[in-house]
Amino acid sequence: MCNQYSLLMEKIKEALSDDLLGKIVSIRGWVYRIRSSGKITFIVMRDSTGIIQCIASSENLNDEQMKEISSLTIESSIELSGKLRKEPRAVTGYEISLQSYKIYERNENFPIAKDLGEEFLLDNRHLWLRSREFTAVLKIRSTVFKAFADYFYKEDYYQVQAPMFVSTATEGGSSLFNVDYFGEKVNLTQSSQFYLETLIYSLEKVFTIAPSFRAEKSRTRRHLTEYWHAEGEAAWYSNEDMMADEEKMIKYIIDEVLKNNLEDLEIIKRDINKIKNIKIPFERIKYKDLIEKSKEFGMNLKYGDDLGADEEYGIMVHFDNPIFVTDYPESLKTFYHRPDPDNPGEILCHDLLAPEGYGEVLGGGERIYDLQQLLDRIKENNLNPEDYYWYVDLRKYGSIPHSGFGLGLDRLVMWICGLSNVRETIPYPRTIRRVKP
Ligand code: 4AD
Repeated sequence: MCNQYSLLMEKIKEALSDDLLGKIVSIRGWVYRIRSSGKITFIVMRDSTGIIQCIASSENLNDEQMKEISSLTIESSIELSGKLRKEPRAVTGYEISLQSYKIYERNENFPIAKDLGEEFLLDNRHLWLRSREFTAVLKIRSTVFKAFADYFYKEDYYQVQAPMFVSTATEGGSSLFNVDYFGEKVNLTQSSQFYLETLIYSLEKVFTIAPSFRAEKSRTRRHLTEYWHAEGEAAWYSNEDMMADEEKMIKYIIDEVLKNNLEDLEIIKRDINKIKNIKIPFERIKYKDLIEKSKEFGMNLKYGDDLGADEEYGIMVHFDNPIFVTDYPESLKTFYHRPDPDNPGEILCHDLLAPEGYGEVLGGGERIYDLQQLLDRIKENNLNPEDYYWYVDLRKYGSIPHSGFGLGLDRLVMWICGLSNVRETIPYPRTIRRVKP
């Protein structure tokens, strides 16, 4: 019986190897599938690295052991040892012929099965997320988070952290979550941008990965109330400089996923060519030109219309590569965006829209750095400059041109994985109707 924690165990992925053929391998994990036929029991075992078929027969096990093994249920936890052999009919081409085992826990009845309702699966998210597909998505997500940070470290950005309890809104009051903070009304942050802006005066180029909170009552396939926001801010950067860094970052993340997660992409049946063929530079299209172009797609948009999930879908199903939409009208964006001095009414900003109908994954642009211009925009938006005193101060002491962006990491994972709802990208999605488990 291999019942020592210290015993050398193979991860399943390592066991799937010609080098170990004919040798005794030991693995531990969970029963993924089990089927008995007469005197033989087939168990497909899973761990974090993969799945492998194991076969229990009376050749190696006595009657009592055979009974115990055949009565195992899905998601029971066990460790086992046996000889490795090739088996073309087995799910991953290899099979362990079971010789000894230890059961850690035997399930009564694992509640997750095929064809269960959406709500049931969401209530049981803590169990559902063990599925192979979810595991694959979470591995891709892990690569995306790491690659984002790696890219910006390579480009000499510093990673910084901003607070989540805040007293100002960056993206308008309608999507603020209020929190009772020892009797004072504060908010959960919508974006770390303003804090990143304070940090470029010492570090020049900074990024952060943090949650952002939006109380929008949007029930679309791409809205979460709590999402993961990757934001960057760079001193001396123009709108164009920022886009140049961003497109390289997106390409780098995709290349890292292709390098590290091919198997995972296969498990979730992603058409790999859709992301393999992504090319930089991304096309830049002015908002006003996009409105014109949308007519070719039979859409009825006019200048000044906001592009929501439906409109962006209607446009982006016609694209295979992301596009930057630039120069939005001032009326569509929040107060901190820098107006274009050469084109009154337009701002120096961009949204990155992902292809295949996915739409906006990132928004960014130049920030106002002139003191009076910022004060005017704050007032025009019926905000109180005193609430923003620290943000305004930045325009009084060594103000400089600068740009930044915010990338919705959940939306990026959704697009890279080709998923139909952003909820499928995050272990515990927070939406209007759900804060459990
Ligand atoms: O366009 P947004 O609102 O921009 C900002 O918050 C800026 N302050 C960011 C910055 O410049 N530092 O949000 C940026 C991105 C969007 O493009 C989208 O991908 C994502 O955040 N996002 C959401 N993702 C999931 N659920 C939501 N409710 C989201 N709202 C925005």
